[in-house]
Amino acid sequence: MFSVLSVSSVVKAVLGKKGKAMAAKKRAARKGGGKKSAAKKKGAKKVAVKKKAAKKAAPKMSAAEKTAEVEDRIRRLEWWHEAKFGMFIHWGLYALIGRHEWAMEREAIPVAEYEKLADRFTPVPNAAREWAALAKRAGMKYMVMTTKHHEGFCLFDSELTDYCAPKRACGRDLVREYVDAARGEGLRVGFYHSLMDWHHPDGATCAEDEGARRRFVDYIHGQVREICSNYGKLDILWYDVPWPLDAEGWESAKMNAMVRSILPDVIINNRSKLPEDFSTPEQHIRGEESVDGRGWEACMTMNDSWGYHGSDDDWKSPKRVVQNLVTCARDGGNYLLNIGPKADGSVPRESIDILTKVGEWMDRNGQTIYNADRCKVKSSLFADFTRKGNTLYVHAHFWPGESWSIGGLTTKVVSAKILRTGEPVKFEQDEFGTRFSGLPAEPPDDPVSVIALECASEPTQESGDFIRKGMPRGKA
Ligand code: GLC
Repeated sequence: MFSVLSVSSVVKAVLGKKGKAMAAKKRAARKGGGKKSAAKKKGAKKVAVKKKAAKKAAPKMSAAEKTAEVEDRIRRLEWWHEAKFGMFIHWGLYALIGRHEWAMEREAIPVAEYEKLADRFTPVPNAAREWAALAKRAGMKYMVMTTKHHEGFCLFDSELTDYCAPKRACGRDLVREYVDAARGEGLRVGFYHSLMDWHHPDGATCAEDEGARRRFVDYIHGQVREICSNYGKLDILWYDVPWPLDAEGWESAKMNAMVRSILPDVIINNRSKLPEDFSTPEQHIRGEESVDGRGWEACMTMNDSWGYHGSDDDWKSPKRVVQNLVTCARDGGNYLLNIGPKADGSVPRESIDILTKVGEWMDRNGQTIYNADRCKVKSSLFADFTRKGNTLYVHAHFWPGESWSIGGLTTKVVSAKILRTGEPVKFEQDEFGTRFSGLPAEPPDDPVSVIALECASEPTQESGDFIRKGMPRGKA
């Protein structure tokens, strides 16, 4: 990882790569689509003129400034790369409905009716302590909680709206409770803040009406300032859903510069329509190369809903969670796994059970995950891999029994052992593969068993999209 390379060599390497995918995405987003009414077109034109002016005004960065920006990003992300595993928490009025955090929109619940939930949202004090203890037990190193989801209800104390927990039935600042709980367990603290807002009167019209945009952007910038100013050191700012504006419309560069002026060490995700520090693949894992020192983090639900959804029983197994974490660590990413607490603040039984099991596994195997380096070995039908330096960790999620092989390892294996027991493993290696024998018939660990291979150099593997390069099979 970065500690073994000098910062400047990393900077040089990452500066060489162009953010092509990002540029293509931006171009597609700019193109927009669909037919617009004449009135809408007029409004859109007004906003577009403003955008053009903003673009012209944006100063170009010198090479030295760019290098300094990348170096600073690498420094700020260092703890996060080591941490690898975090807890996402979706909590809001929707927990009272108990049918997913999008219930307001998908069930077309009118604002006036939905708002009444705020008179019934009275969670037990300091429920967040249970979440923080659970995160710690699961081996997670940071937490990210919704300060405001799309529904618009704020869990923090805001001077900009009365639609917030301290001013309604709850009567307490739930973000304060969360921050204290996370810090109490020694965990890093993140805030999720939805830019999209179904409650604010300008939230839907701001793309066509410049007055609405001005009011709404001021409101959101003001809230972002509040959450960044009132809770001490914040480690992560996690924006969500920038609909219906683009980066110019949101004035994202200005907003994020304001954030950094308050919190110089904070890391910011890519959902204000600027790439910032890390990207956020959702509900899937796709390893990304690092462009300009950026990281990536896959966020995922434990069932199929982010907010509490009482009848959603599509739970991931602890094995699936461990496998996902391994895949993220293998490809240099992080895994942000969600809980959706009930309205009283308690965590669904199933989530507790899954995270407890994962935590027990992390107690025994955490060394294979935390601070892992990117790993080039990827191919097996029953195992996945992580790496630290020259040590390759073979994570068998389906244990094949007493003897099996990993094909195409091109690095010399020096020694092998079962991680859980320390028991040495017999192996033979040739140009085709590395064959293990004399292994226990039953998996030595649960839900995933690890064999640690000490290699003579960085572990690499000959593989191809369909068949191994050169198809080495030996003679019949
Ligand atoms: C989506 C959803 C949202 C959830 C988020 C988490 O954008 O709109 O409900 O908070 O993903 O990444």
